[in-house]
Amino acid sequence: MPTLNPPVLPAIRSPDDFAAAKAAGRKLVMVTSYDAWSSRLLAESGVDCLLVGDSAMMVVHGEKDTLGATPELMALHTRAVTRGSGATFVVADMPFLAARKGAAHALDCAALLMRAGAHAVKIEGAQGHLPVIRHLVESGIPVMGHLGLTPQWVRGFGGFKVQGRAPEAAGQLREDALALEQAGAFALVLECIPQDLAAAVTAALHVPTIGIGAGAGCDGQVLVLQDLLGLNPGFQPRFARRFADGA
Ligand code: KIV
Repeated sequence: MPTLNPPVLPAIRSPDDFAAAKAAGRKLVMVTSYDAWSSRLLAESGVDCLLVGDSAMMVVHGEKDTLGATPELMALHTRAVTRGSGATFVVADMPFLAARKGAAHALDCAALLMRAGAHAVKIEGAQGHLPVIRHLVESGIPVMGHLGLTPQWVRGFGGFKVQGRAPEAAGQLREDALALEQAGAFALVLECIPQDLAAAVTAALHVPTIGIGAGAGCDGQVLVLQDLLGLNPGFQPRFARRFADGA
């Protein structure tokens, strides 16, 4: 695979390196990985960060959404990824409802993922999660936030639809982003929101935003590996540039 980030700038090795990259104007590259072979190839290509996304439920397990992911399944994928990832920073998704049953339950789930080798966990949504996020961060578990089209809410959203279009929704998203930064999140994924809103949120935060379907104004981009390699011909999100026709 081609090298995506020339080794001129320091590698991302800790949560603080994310904010340092933003301050230096360095764009961040995050790609999903669910297994050891792809994490080895991606780590060698020089991506900044691997995401063990609960999108594994759809991409690997063929489900219609991500709701079936469990802490044990995410830990299994995380262990496989960290067998191939070397020193590359790995973030693992906290699955559906893992942050809704209180701090102790969230800590147990995050502990599974960290023991499987993750450097950090990602939590979808802000409202109702802030005390849990604070608790994890204070317990030594770095947390990445995720706002916008948070797929764990897909049934409530009535489908995979762009979020934050109405002025009230945009205002709420801005507030949530600031609250997540306050709570200690070291970076935020912004998924499928209008690009002006993503750019405004990016400008308001010290921590970086990593966009997917949120325009070029974010501090980095994240893509699903299988979309990037054209391995799923029946699904081509408009924002996902295909670098190969893998199928
Ligand atoms: O699960 C996932 O792959 C994700 C990305 C799409 C951001 O959360």
